Amino acid sequence: MASIPPDDAPENGHRNGNGPSPPAAKRPRAALISAAEIRTEFAHHDAAVARVNNGSFGSCPATVLDAQARLQRLFLAQPDAFYFDSLQPGLARSRAAVAALVNAGDVSEISLVDNATTAAAIVLQHAAWSFAEGHFARGDAVLMLHYAYGAVKKSIHAYVARAGATVVEVPLPFPVASPDAIISEFHGALALAKAGGRRVRLAVIDHITSMPSVIIPVKELVAICRQEGVDKVFVDAAHSIGQVPVDVRDIGADFYTSNLHKWFFCPPAVAFLHTRKDVPMASQLHHPVVSHEYGNGLPMESGWIGTRDYSAQIVVPEAITFVNWFEGGIEGIRTRNHEKVIEMGKMLADAWGTFLGSPPELCGSMVMVGMPSCLGIESDDDALRVRTMLRNDFKVEVPIYYNTRRVEAQEMARDKNGDPVTGYVRISHQVYNVKEEYERLRDAVNKLVAERFTSSKLRPSEKQETLA
Ligand SMILES: Cc1ncc(COP(=O)(O)O)c(C=O)c1O
Repeated sequence: MASIPPDDAPENGHRNGNGPSPPAAKRPRAALISAAEIRTEFAHHDAAVARVNNGSFGSCPATVLDAQARLQRLFLAQPDAFYFDSLQPGLARSRAAVAALVNAGDVSEISLVDNATTAAAIVLQHAAWSFAEGHFARGDAVLMLHYAYGAVKKSIHAYVARAGATVVEVPLPFPVASPDAIISEFHGALALAKAGGRRVRLAVIDHITSMPSVIIPVKELVAICRQEGVDKVFVDAAHSIGQVPVDVRDIGADFYTSNLHKWFFCPPAVAFLHTRKDVPMASQLHHPVVSHEYGNGLPMESGWIGTRDYSAQIVVPEAITFVNWFEGGIEGIRTRNHEKVIEMGKMLADAWGTFLGSPPELCGSMVMVGMPSCLGIESDDDALRVRTMLRNDFKVEVPIYYNTRRVEAQEMARDKNGDPVTGYVRISHQVYNVKEEYERLRDAVNKLVAERFTSSKLRPSEKQETLA
């Protein structure tokens, strides 16, 4: 067992690989965590920055980081002993913990990989081989959401479009009013994908889209795929675990991945890929990095992709210990995060004369809030420049989304002055956040509005003119 030595254990002491797991830290865990202890756990965050963006990179508390550091030193103290005695048992311990968390049928269904990007590559690589080896016909379709994550979209193109697939996008409305609006667009896109008798080989469905952030009714969409004869469904749930309940058996997809470093307090980088045991193709999946574990099944292949640091993948049980220090464990955390982020989102929307991008039922611990139209955000570049300015000039870290009208029939939503809203902040709430951070964001945007700032002032050409 990759047991983690307590803080005071001799660092080069020889450890018995099968020994019981000692506590991850000295702090007693009997009582619930206090506000002061939460501050201590995240004291390594830059105190000058209002970090209302947990979504991009997640966060990791000190006790888990300490456990990880002890593992890293344990490896460096005696790499061979670690490799032969501790690595695989440690990974197995994490996989079993994940299997229980997500209600997997069996621990053999869980592989630990670096991140959702890697999980997508595993699934899409297999689809590409299916085209290359003639199991799929040229032109067979792969369906994805228009709001699929950029890297996953590129992966779909790099692997399956290149191998001969027709890629069909589901154009989702935004702002979005209800799950039914999403389901209806999905039906439309699926009909398009199946036009002329085309086979739909794979549907890639996000559980929570990244930008704009919306919870997708994934169970319903998987059921539709089953009814409509879609061969396989891959759910990209990079943001899900820690934000929404995850029961992989209930959702019923063939493949389901979630990062553990975003909302589950693991260090970067660790994610799981769930592959149903009863899906024959599951045994044909391979990690894109081929090691000497090739052919020993995806969990083993993923558990050794060459010499590197595996500590993030071994500390999953320590992250579980951390979440259980909170009232209600992970369910309590996500319920409180959800309530807080909606409260903060409404506070911002009221202050800016705008609205939330989706109803609370379609939000987890992240919510989109419309920005005043007068900021003049007219492109992705504008959105990025305003985000950079908020970071540099106001010490607020928040992603900004530029909205174009994707669903033709949909009117652009308007702010209190009747002008179309094109920019949205994606705020998040995690256990370390405090109200003042959202107030800083509110005041920064209000100041920009009062000073008649527009995004055009940050565009390179206009900046040059100002300098001239
Ligand atoms: C929906 C979605 N898929 C995939 C990813 C990629 O995650 P990672 O960078 O951890 O691989 C993200 C990251 O935010 C995401 O939001």
